[in-house]
Amino acid sequence: MSETVEIFEMGPRDGLQNEKRQIPTADKIALVDCLSRAGFRRIEVASFVSPKWVPQMADSADVLAGITRAKGVSYAALTPNMKGFEGAQAAKADEIAIFGSASEGFSKANINATIAESLERFAPVVEAAKLASIPVRGYVSCVADCPYDGPTAPAQVAKVAKALLDMGCYEISLGDTIGQGTPEAISAMLEAVLQVVPAAQVAGHYHDTAGRALVNIEASLAQGVRVFDAAVGGLGGCPYAPGAAGNVATESVHARLTKLGYDTGLNNDVLEEAAAMARRMREGN
Ligand code: HMG
Ligand code: MG
Repeated sequence: MSETVEIFEMGPRDGLQNEKRQIPTADKIALVDCLSRAGFRRIEVASFVSPKWVPQMADSADVLAGITRAKGVSYAALTPNMKGFEGAQAAKADEIAIFGSASEGFSKANINATIAESLERFAPVVEAAKLASIPVRGYVSCVADCPYDGPTAPAQVAKVAKALLDMGCYEISLGDTIGQGTPEAISAMLEAVLQVVPAAQVAGHYHDTAGRALVNIEASLAQGVRVFDAAVGGLGGCPYAPGAAGNVATESVHARLTKLGYDTGLNNDVLEEAAAMARRMREGN
């Protein structure tokens, strides 16, 4: 039997947060419902952030209220602070994610806090989530390069990843936010992170700006990483990372993993349907 590699679907959140036009809530719900049929175990569908910062995600509660929840699927939401946690909890997100950065420049631009301040802000969120038995995932952005500070030192990524793990995150997702990482840089970064976070608790979150996400996934597979974030149709980017193209496209990751002999558990036909839907949303701009 082939080994399983999980794709954590990011399209409805990381994808749609960056679309210029406001996507109708009903279209977002239709996309999530299609993704639920494709066989994902985890789908990031919402983000409880300031609507002044990211207006695209202002209807997150409505999205969570409108979707048809499939059994065994965890619907995730970003929560930068307690206000976000309260929103996610009220909307019944199955899991939440806190999102930090390995670089100071991006931390300030994205969440208006230094790295140290952000960790202080996350601690009560994780505590509240623990009390409510809501799993928390932790992101580290700019694991290879920062649009403001340049290349990121692997040791700095390991430091932030360990801080999020120690706080109680069940998995650490490593974000190549601006997609400039090379397989060499990603491997060096992982070597540092895997000294402090077990591979079973690490995920790769690679944007495809320079077209290297798939080779970076292969480099990560070689180091034991078995979870990758991706967005159908290659939707998205990050509004606070100039030049960040979309996440690597889920259908490309699925095809590559399948070719390499891994099992993603996804239904190819439904995945293609979701990707076509995502591409239409993008073309609507
Ligand atoms: P701030 O301005 O410092 O916050 O922003 P504040 O606490 O001073 O509050 C300012 C206003 O925002 C107040 O409203 C708050 O109530 C409101 P006002 O009194 O002015 O009317 N506010 C909120 N409203 C709704 N939900 C909330 C919330 N918090 C405060 N949770 C803050 C700090 C973190 C809120 C802001 O910087 C923010 O929302 N940033 C989010 C940016 C973002 O969403 N970026 C994209 C996601 S990260 C990403 O894409 C990277 C990732 O994919 C990994 C990778 O690729 O590397 C995960
Ligand atoms: Mg991202």
